[in-house]
Amino acid sequence: PRSIFFSRHGESQYNVEGKIGGDSPLSERGMRYARALPDLIKDNIGDAPLTVWTSTLQRTIQTAQFLPYNKLTWKSLDELDAGVCDGMTYEEIEQAYPEDFANRDEDKFNYRYRGRSFTLLLFLVVITHDLGGESYRDVVVRLEPVIMELERQENILIVGHQAILRCLYAYFHNLPQADLPYIKIPLHTVIKLTPKAYGCDEERYTLPI
Ligand code: F6P
Repeated sequence: PRSIFFSRHGESQYNVEGKIGGDSPLSERGMRYARALPDLIKDNIGDAPLTVWTSTLQRTIQTAQFLPYNKLTWKSLDELDAGVCDGMTYEEIEQAYPEDFANRDEDKFNYRYRGRSFTLLLFLVVITHDLGGESYRDVVVRLEPVIMELERQENILIVGHQAILRCLYAYFHNLPQADLPYIKIPLHTVIKLTPKAYGCDEERYTLPI
């Protein structure tokens, strides 16, 4: 039977600082995870073929860099876009946008971050538009093509991000939308799913890094 492996990227500089989003590199600790990952995978699948998918963000690419398999980067695997809150800590968000912070807590699956506002002045008409800013629901939609392709593949390792892996994990375990944004996907842990006729078997391997 084929396996699907999920791993978040190793600890990033932003993880250390408690900031969300961004495109920061791995911390020293995250780099240790990247170096340890190839042996963990090899011990698990031996010489079986494997393809590695990452996002386009450097923390996933750095995490996958020592894995001796074919790699593919997907823009659709980039982390949930936090819009104007990108690069902030949760405390900073609560300070700057208290209503948004409360709304997200109220309905985390549907809450969409405010986009970066963008204004155009055209023949004395002002057009304001919101760019970026996603909800978990938006991410589920954006991941549809990834899931379609995942269904056709053999062994795959996805080196991804917290929100993205929550969506993929919920799909394979058939978990309800309301629970999805709270699924625990810790750092430095490989989750192995083995699809069965109904549902998936699961194992988790945590590297004490
Ligand atoms: O903090 C890491 C991170 O991947 C952020 O980039 C992202 O916004 C967040 O986790 C998603 O988790 P939550 O939806 O619980 O804020």
